[in-house]
Amino acid sequence: MSVFDGKLRIEVAAASGIEAVTKRELVRLGYTPEGAERGRICFEGRFSDVLRANVFLRTAERVRIVLFSAPADSFDALFDSVYAYPWQEVIPSRGRVTVNARSHASKLFALSAVQSITKKAIAKKLMNCFSLSSLEESGEEYRIEVSLESDVATVTLDTSGDGLHKRGWRTYLGEAPIRETLASAMLQLSVWKADRPFIDPFCGSGTLPIEAALMGRNIASGMNRHFACEDFEFAPKLRLEVQREAEQLIDRDVKLRISGFDIDRDAVKLAMKHARAAGVEGNIHLQTCDMRDVSSRFKYGVIVTNPPYGERLLQENELRTLYADFGKMCTALEEWSVYVITSYRAFEKYFGRRADKVRKLYNSELECGFYTFLGARPPREGRESKTE
Ligand SMILES: C[S@@+](CC[C@H](N)C(=O)[O-])C[C@H]1O[C@@H](n2cnc3c(N)ncnc32)[C@H](O)[C@@H]1O
Repeated sequence: MSVFDGKLRIEVAAASGIEAVTKRELVRLGYTPEGAERGRICFEGRFSDVLRANVFLRTAERVRIVLFSAPADSFDALFDSVYAYPWQEVIPSRGRVTVNARSHASKLFALSAVQSITKKAIAKKLMNCFSLSSLEESGEEYRIEVSLESDVATVTLDTSGDGLHKRGWRTYLGEAPIRETLASAMLQLSVWKADRPFIDPFCGSGTLPIEAALMGRNIASGMNRHFACEDFEFAPKLRLEVQREAEQLIDRDVKLRISGFDIDRDAVKLAMKHARAAGVEGNIHLQTCDMRDVSSRFKYGVIVTNPPYGERLLQENELRTLYADFGKMCTALEEWSVYVITSYRAFEKYFGRRADKVRKLYNSELECGFYTFLGARPPREGRESKTE
């Protein structure tokens, strides 16, 4: 019997500003999530649900199991409550333990001391339980996090390993790529659905079109990668089951109209390579092209894009001209909805339209606006809107 066989409290970490999107994903997966603040959403489940969350969530950064919470207003109290936990049911004698700490509004704020006390308590417990005088730490890694909030320590075990933005298809980063998790959140905040045309006119290494194609074909974002919890010695081996579920859900017949354009030939080559690695090259049209020459014969399409930002890629005057020309290109697309992430605060002025909504999002710590310009809905459906 191990803790992995019973009911678990599962904590999903999401980037600031997209918690509500991740929460909706959990609801669609059949769970009842609680809270969606400060980058954390929790739900109850079993070990199979830990794997499902890792495999299916498109916007989560990582998935952890909450082992316990206990008051910890002194190092002695922290040591005692960590020692009291049945670590021998979680970590085998050769397990490699790493501890990370966070503290907010708590007496214990020296993070390296919190880490070393926690690690000592875990090691002592394991040595006692396995009758050892020292720990080899030659096996798999078990990443523990201690999070102190108002003098209460919550201790979690990471189950993802690499961050969940790593889907397994990206080979090289390209210039200023957007995180896959953020790209997926932007798509989910848009009105785009698989039956509508999609264009990213600044596609770079292809993140947005690839995420759109994965969504459109219902390919789980974590299908092609490994998770730390698959190596947990005491956990049930359920990956094959979850993998089968994911495979059955793939839509192999859907017709998608997804295009990505970029002025940089090398970026487009990279996007093609990535699309191939993600298994969606047949679903995306990628082309080297100046955004100014992009057009579409379709109506009611959706643009979701991450154009250059001043700080990173262009001079301010070039950026203003680019945004003005982008505005003209969008106006020429009849009835399209447009979504743009940029840190440039005067974006609307140069784009030439006032956004219907601006939401605050972070791209690699950089505060950005996510600008929504709604077009019309396809006939029978009335005016476009997206509720959150
Ligand atoms: C912030 S990057 C996009 C990164 C992309 N989202 C990714 O994940 O790789 C902006 C892209 O705009 C492209 N770009 C700049 N000016 C352009 C133009 N006039 N037409 C099309 N693409 C342009 C750049 O080559 C660059 O790849």
